[in-house]
Amino acid sequence: MSLTPNSPSDQPMRLGVCYYPEHWDESLWADDARRMVEAGLSRVRIGEFAWSRIEPEPGRFDWGWLDRVIAVLHAAGLGIILGTPTATPPKWLVDQMPDMVATDRHGRPRTFGSRRHYCFSHDGYRTEAVRITGAVSERYGRHPGVVSWQTDNEFGCHDTVLSYSPAAAQAFRAWLETRYGTIAALNHAWGNVFWSMEYRSFAEVDLPNLTVTEANPAHWLAFRRFSSDQVIAFHRAQVAVLRELSPGRDITHNAMGFFTDYDHHDLGWHCDVLGWDSYPLGFLDSFPFSEADKLAYARQGHPDIAAFHHDLYRGCTRGGRWSVLEQQPGPVNWARYNPAPLPGMVRLWTLEALAHGAELVSYFRWRQFPKAQEQHHAGLLRPDSEPAPALAEVRAAAADVAAIGAIGPPPRAVALIFAYDADWITGIQPQGAGLSALWAAFACYTALRELGLDVDIVPPGAALDGYALCVVPCLPHVPERLVESLGAFPGQIVIGPRSGSRNADFAIPDALPPGPLQALFPAKVVRVESLRPGLVHQGQGWRIERWREELETAAQIELAADDGTPASYRHDRVRYLAAWPEPGLARAVLSRAAQEAGLACHALPEGLRLRRAGEHTFAFNYGAAPTVLPQGVCGELLLGTRTLPPAGVAVLAPGAPGG
Ligand code: GAL
Repeated sequence: MSLTPNSPSDQPMRLGVCYYPEHWDESLWADDARRMVEAGLSRVRIGEFAWSRIEPEPGRFDWGWLDRVIAVLHAAGLGIILGTPTATPPKWLVDQMPDMVATDRHGRPRTFGSRRHYCFSHDGYRTEAVRITGAVSERYGRHPGVVSWQTDNEFGCHDTVLSYSPAAAQAFRAWLETRYGTIAALNHAWGNVFWSMEYRSFAEVDLPNLTVTEANPAHWLAFRRFSSDQVIAFHRAQVAVLRELSPGRDITHNAMGFFTDYDHHDLGWHCDVLGWDSYPLGFLDSFPFSEADKLAYARQGHPDIAAFHHDLYRGCTRGGRWSVLEQQPGPVNWARYNPAPLPGMVRLWTLEALAHGAELVSYFRWRQFPKAQEQHHAGLLRPDSEPAPALAEVRAAAADVAAIGAIGPPPRAVALIFAYDADWITGIQPQGAGLSALWAAFACYTALRELGLDVDIVPPGAALDGYALCVVPCLPHVPERLVESLGAFPGQIVIGPRSGSRNADFAIPDALPPGPLQALFPAKVVRVESLRPGLVHQGQGWRIERWREELETAAQIELAADDGTPASYRHDRVRYLAAWPEPGLARAVLSRAAQEAGLACHALPEGLRLRRAGEHTFAFNYGAAPTVLPQGVCGELLLGTRTLPPAGVAVLAPGAPGG
């Protein structure tokens, strides 16, 4: 059996599973591998938490078990994604270097006994991470069964990007010196004359925690940028070793959902394939969705959770290669409430990833482990090795993927611009509860998807050729490259609130917001206000709520509330949203822009989503009731029916007219 490392993304999507052979008796391995292949899986992800078994004592490696399991999996025909085990440094290492752990915001150490107990800025730990990566890749880097490497596991999970340790403080000072050159430049950029916060040297700068009231937001933003850079540097140190010792293998990492603590565009640049971990039900319960949505979609997940991240992470890599490295297979253990998915959802999530261009969906995990922290987390098998409900759905999905065959590239319709520092800025100074750039992006994404449109989420400055509409939901810091790309873009543009409202150092631009975007939209935002729940300006089918801006502009008012309060303006092909993109308002503005952009919009029934891939149109029913495809969705059915049951999927291709 020959395996092809660096499998190009035009190959059919593969299915895989996360496997922890160290949890199970060796006598089970061969049968596990056989059953994986029989279920339609061809990838297996192992090793990311196994440091204590790989190196039980400092410098003493036990390769025997890993040699054997890799041989067993390879012999069964599975390609192995091997994890570097750096998310779980063993006890002996922490005892050797107690200051390697991170420090929390209150100055307390984050100690051994779970995982991710390290500080990204600790040089000694980084050296150890490189050492263990070197040892594992030296041993398996050229093994024919090893097709890919995952660095670490979920950087930042359990709130671990920001560390307030002495190592972080020291590294931060050096980082500031590189960025600002002189302390006078830093004082000036941050406005430290305010409250006599001026420093005489970089050595005087502490981390922004433990201050009496909020620290300077510029200080926080610099710390956020620095902390993100530390994550990327940690990843890159491993990448350098893997490139050398394991040539030709893809390097990946598993990002998380609704997580912005480090810059994923930066991470994606240093991966061949960016993975992410998709837990739609856990995310629905854990993030600020309405109580109505939490109930309506409790067993399906909100219809845009998975797709939003597919489209976000696809845009983070150089070549657009991405995967789902962990897919929820049943109840998880970590949300406040952990329901089981509706029958059919595991299959639906799998086919939706296919429709958005994933090259792999890997389920978390093979068998539920009856001990330790994740006892209640489902797998494809129960702890007694009997099939859990998801296994049959995986089989069905594997058959569907094979039947659908190759699909074409995603269309270019709407580009939605998102940057990680946007969410840092709104997080540092929200000015109104819950006003976050990430959630503004999600709200616009939902509004576009409800119109049946396909969306690419891309960083500022990404090439915009081929798109008809570009949406900038909320981008406080606008880099020059975005002004250039928007200036050259002939399509429709929608700019959301707070865009261009800060420079890279968290200061309001001299020309007032939208700052550099004034080149496209001549206006000055002269006052902003946030509105408590219930304080609204009612419009026709939409409302101004949460955030409102007053503009001095000659641009024409396009939408105004019943009391005359302007909600959106337009100037030529550019629209400006002077209020928070709440669902109704976002829909009202974006549907106008989309129609003018010549995009075919649908009024989709609730819970239904469409996705084009080449000539195929996919439809997914997230609703709890059957739903019917609108007349305008045409093509011959390759899979499913025009009436989609709950968790139903239909795939259409050109041929017989629909309707
Ligand atoms: C992920 C993590 C896995 C596992 C899983 C449970 O965040 O990467 O190791 O803990 O969650 O849902």
